[in-house]
Amino acid sequence: MSRFYATTPIYYVNGKPHIGHAYCTTVADAAARFHRLLGEQTYFCTGTDEHGQKVQEAAEKRGIPPQQHVDELAEAFRGLLPKLHITPEQFIRTTEPRHKAVVARALQQLWDNDLIEKRSFAGWYSTAAERFWTEKDLVDGKCPDTGQEVVWLEEANYFFLMSRFQQPLIDAIESGKMRILPANRANEVLGFLREPLLDLCISRPKSRLSWGIELPFDSEYVTYVWFDALLNYVTAIGGFGAEADNAATLGEGAAPASGDKGTFETWWPHVCHFLGKDILTTHAVYWPTMLMALGLEPPRQYCVTGWWLMDNTKMSKSLGNVVDPLSLKDTYGPEVLRWFLLREMAVGQDANFSEAGLVKRNNTDLANDLGNLVQRTTALVHKHFDSQVPTLPEDRDPSPLLTSAIHLASYLCGEDTPFELTRSAQQVWPVEKTVDELKLHVTLADIMTLVQRLNQVLASDQPFKTVKTDKDAAAVTVYHALEGIRIAANLLWPAIPHTAEAILERVGWTRGVLPLADINWGDLPEGSAVPKGAGLFPRYKLDAPKDAAKPAPKPAKKAKQKGLPEITIDNAIGYDDFAKLDLRVGVVKVAEPVRKSDKLLRMEVDVGELGLRQVLAGVAKHLTPEQLVGTRIQVLTNLAPRKLMGLWSQGMMMLAETDDGRLVPMRPDGDAPAGSKIA
Ligand code: MSP
Repeated sequence: MSRFYATTPIYYVNGKPHIGHAYCTTVADAAARFHRLLGEQTYFCTGTDEHGQKVQEAAEKRGIPPQQHVDELAEAFRGLLPKLHITPEQFIRTTEPRHKAVVARALQQLWDNDLIEKRSFAGWYSTAAERFWTEKDLVDGKCPDTGQEVVWLEEANYFFLMSRFQQPLIDAIESGKMRILPANRANEVLGFLREPLLDLCISRPKSRLSWGIELPFDSEYVTYVWFDALLNYVTAIGGFGAEADNAATLGEGAAPASGDKGTFETWWPHVCHFLGKDILTTHAVYWPTMLMALGLEPPRQYCVTGWWLMDNTKMSKSLGNVVDPLSLKDTYGPEVLRWFLLREMAVGQDANFSEAGLVKRNNTDLANDLGNLVQRTTALVHKHFDSQVPTLPEDRDPSPLLTSAIHLASYLCGEDTPFELTRSAQQVWPVEKTVDELKLHVTLADIMTLVQRLNQVLASDQPFKTVKTDKDAAAVTVYHALEGIRIAANLLWPAIPHTAEAILERVGWTRGVLPLADINWGDLPEGSAVPKGAGLFPRYKLDAPKDAAKPAPKPAKKAKQKGLPEITIDNAIGYDDFAKLDLRVGVVKVAEPVRKSDKLLRMEVDVGELGLRQVLAGVAKHLTPEQLVGTRIQVLTNLAPRKLMGLWSQGMMMLAETDDGRLVPMRPDGDAPAGSKIA
């Protein structure tokens, strides 16, 4: 049987959970549920990372013992899950004895195999990043990751001989054995591995940090928090001798390696780590090399997610601009929040968080598209078909549009159907394909095309009219609309589980959510009772004061013309807004890498009458300086200048970002000279 083992990062308990945590866990939850729909056995773990300096300091700040602090906060994280309809099989905490034992065994094994060495070491230490930096790593004398103060420390420490595994790691990524999605993140790791890989300091003297797991071979030290934390993924499924402890902690039968839950050996090959882009190196470099050193396979798969931003800044505990997900759940309900998080953000990319955006997603997708469809169809059943699923009359075929909806549903479920992709305004893929690629936002958009198609069917078949003149024709439309809703709800279950279950009941379906392979159009029993119920999704309007600081949302613009499909442009801008952009043809005179950055290139670009501009672009992984020097590009010249890696960028290079993560420069065609205006 195929399996899927989903993990989330285990969260630091140095503050309360926020939307960033809620997001990563929701994506993992939805992915695990989609894999269940694909007929796979799934195991989903999340938890808390409770050791290390940050946590010790958070406890000190509160003036309470660290154990009390972590106990309280772990409950806040655990308690959030049911409130977001997130249903992990296991919640793991790194202060649990079963995990400490795994860490001690792993450390001992590496020590016994001479893969850990004691060395004296000096460097700039950043408490915030919990790591050492070399002099040249520092930016303006501060930690390059966090911008916080660093202190010079000299001490003896233990090092994991990570450098030995550089080539095997490169091979694992290049061969696809370790699959990192989206693909541009794999390139980022390979880029990092182009430089020699150093050994990893995995100890902290107790004199500096006492809140950690003691090294089994030197009681003066505790282990580095990341060495401890990453191993949670192994502990949770019974690796490194955790079976018996897991069974005792979680209850016999609840954990892998006990009862019929499989074993570490059966789950580990199917792991998929969900994580944010900020913790890619620890997960895709430290972790697989640790596993290799321990004689285990590197992780099979990674899903690297982007950040929720607010005013273009990452929302996080330390920044203090955190939106409490619970407050939004209380206002709009957990299903709306889940839908927003999953549908709004393209997995892997950043997105802006706003309450207005959430309300819009609710109103358009859930209230208008899905809610209306259910409401209109079931209302017909109650009014004209005795609150029962209509009986399909013999010899009456569904309309061509309805037939296309039936084909679309089977196509989404993975069947060979005559469904023509060209019938759809956008490209649609079978659920299995986009789930496998972990593009859940695309999966959901594709499923919503079925909902939209069914709404079009109602608009074009007009059963509310035909029911008065040709009841059989209306019965055909209504039966199939109910069936389409049943299948759409089944497919949407991973994103909005409670709502999907409620919709299934609402259309008279009593067999619950089914795996894709068991979904057959036409299984909805004729004559089953269709219960009455209240509207599923209320529409919301944001109160003016809450949004006062934000620009008023622009009314959607519709462009209607016979023969053209009707389109709606949300957030349309007027020509005046467009005219504010000063886009110019530029000729690249100089292009070179930026020191200490594997992303940025520095260019000097001739923009005619505006002179020579220094432009920084994050394209180093996509273009070489040679591909740029002497060529013509498009530059936005009146974007407010920004400082990146200590250098001013005085313009922005226009690039196309492809679905597979490539950045392609927009080159002016023809011979327009440098400085020509683009409009
Ligand atoms: N404890 C480590 C993980 C150890 S896993 C072996 C950790 N914890 S964390 O609490 O700081 O962050 C956990 C996750 O939350 C990361 O994946 C991070 O990307 C994510 N997020 C934190 N803020 C975020 C946003 N604003 N948006 C989306 N996710 C972000 O790192």
